[in-house]
Amino acid sequence: MNNGIVFWNGDFLPLEKVHVSPFDRGFLFGDGVYELIPFYHKTPLSLDGHLSRLQTSLESVNIENPYDKEIWKKYITELVDYSKHEDTYAYLQVTRGVAPRDHAYPKNIKPSVFMYTDELSHITDEQASKGFQAITLEDFRWLKCNIKSISLIGNVLLRQEAIEGGYDEAILIRDDVVTEGAASNVFAVVNKTIVTPKNSNFLLPGITRDIVIEIAEKNSFPCEQKNITKNELLSAEEIFLTSSGKGVMPVTRINGKNVGAGLAGKQTLSIAGLYKDHCEAL
Ligand code: PDD
Repeated sequence: MNNGIVFWNGDFLPLEKVHVSPFDRGFLFGDGVYELIPFYHKTPLSLDGHLSRLQTSLESVNIENPYDKEIWKKYITELVDYSKHEDTYAYLQVTRGVAPRDHAYPKNIKPSVFMYTDELSHITDEQASKGFQAITLEDFRWLKCNIKSISLIGNVLLRQEAIEGGYDEAILIRDDVVTEGAASNVFAVVNKTIVTPKNSNFLLPGITRDIVIEIAEKNSFPCEQKNITKNELLSAEEIFLTSSGKGVMPVTRINGKNVGAGLAGKQTLSIAGLYKDHCEAL
């Protein structure tokens, strides 16, 4: 957590000066949406992509966007300027606002906006070559996982189950096909082709996912967006995860068994390297 300057409803304040009403619907109902935007040397990675997805999330839950894109950019950039870290992430959330507790919401309440920054913790070279351990779990979440909602209790329980079992991430399976990770998108190499589930209501349209697909296509890696069955995942040649916070994360063990030779795979390492170069070049 960052104890420096945060953004609260139009003001830049020390964290301790922010007071949130317990009647904020974000607190009572998890009624809001969020984004997490990585910055490399103070330059954002796909800020437009994040702000477009924010707009889509807000429209999906009928919260009016409190700022236009240019204002968001101004506020986010100013906040990141306060950060003392070389590489930073900006977290932002918009909740429906404060109202007497009732599931149905009154119209015309003012959304609450909170933003903070903290250090972007890169995966170390050791983590990258050793890789992550994943477990497959049943995806029991709701049917609108494409909305970047702050109601994350399903994801929280799934990640916690993975961690308590000694794994780094849960890869979620719905009706025998992969959806996404508890807080990441999933890629696998099957028959030498990089595959990732098609965007749908079952997964978040990840910004890192988009960048990785673009990188793969630009560098002529065979790449397809299609269903991955649980069996295909368990026998994949390579697996990797993507997220704005951690970038490209090789998975070397799944359900306690090696993925391929149990080392980060060739295509994974190439994609991870190209992604890193892309971020460094910002
Ligand atoms: N999570 N799917 C889920 C469920 C996620 O929570 C995330 C990221 C992703 C990857 O999306 P992106 O590449 O746009 O970060 C996919 C963020 C980082 C978080 O909640 O901290």
